[in-house]
Amino acid sequence: MDEARIPIGEGTRVLVLTGAGISAESGLATFRGGGGLWEGYPVEQVASPEGFAADPELVWRFYSMRRRAAAEAEPNAAHRALATLEEGLGDRLLLVTQNVDGLHARAGSRRVVEVHGTLWRTRCSRCLRPPFDDATEPLGPPLPRCTCGALLRPDIVWFGEMLDPAATGRVEGFLRAARRSGAPLVFVAVGTSGNVYPAAGYVHAARAHGAETWLVNLDPALNATSFDHIVTGPAGEVLPRLLGLDG
Ligand SMILES: NC(=O)c1ccc[n+]([C@@H]2O[C@H](COP(=O)([O-])OP(=O)(O)OC[C@H]3O[C@@H](n4cnc5c(N)ncnc54)[C@H](O)[C@@H]3O)[C@@H](O)[C@H]2O)c1
Ligand SMILES: [Zn+2]
Repeated sequence: MDEARIPIGEGTRVLVLTGAGISAESGLATFRGGGGLWEGYPVEQVASPEGFAADPELVWRFYSMRRRAAAEAEPNAAHRALATLEEGLGDRLLLVTQNVDGLHARAGSRRVVEVHGTLWRTRCSRCLRPPFDDATEPLGPPLPRCTCGALLRPDIVWFGEMLDPAATGRVEGFLRAARRSGAPLVFVAVGTSGNVYPAAGYVHAARAHGAETWLVNLDPALNATSFDHIVTGPAGEVLPRLLGLDG
């Protein structure tokens, strides 16, 4: 347990990584916490290209349910604390999220990299037509199709798929610029289990760039030994306090 404040002074750069845990207090379930099952199906089956090919209707039902749940959820104190932090830091902050729920943007965060995509866009499963904004809740049949005839799919990075190089490039660029500036660098991970690479590797990248590293999580995460400071507890209580935004 480490109850100090995260040291963010004049010039400090801050890279934040968030996972499903930061949205848990908004009522959105984490996958692993729920036993990794959705209506009896393993999450991999509703979140992989193979699963989509085998049963696109099941996959769309899963994402339609998640769109509905995310639309009904509200950002919590942890999302809001990060938006307030960004107001003060501007370009000295970058928020990398594995979440697809859009709650960071709704809390007011602007410098957000959604490395796993978003619930709020749809794309073609075959052609290169750019992804487009979409909040519909298809349940099928018929399922939505692209003008090219192929099925549309959520613009989410599924198990076994590559992250968008533009997204990972922004994170690497931020770390390089921080190092060049010579200013202190702080890395804060919130509500992420350390299961899913490459996001789980950002703590190592940040350390390699000289960062002081903090983890805020309900349970000690798998890669917890990689952090300088670990604070255990619900993000909505812990994070505002660690950032000095609770009073
Ligand atoms: N809201 C969303 O957008 C959402 C929801 C489920 C899963 N996903 C994505 O699916 C992938 C894997 O999901 P996952 O569920 O295993 O998430 P994960 O691997 O990011 O793990 C969630 C972590 O959050 C912690 N946690 C739970 N409640 C917390 C709280 N109140 N405060 C602080 N920490 C808390 C848990 O201990 C766990 O270690 C990730 O990409 C994840 O972000 C996104
Ligand atoms: Zn198409």
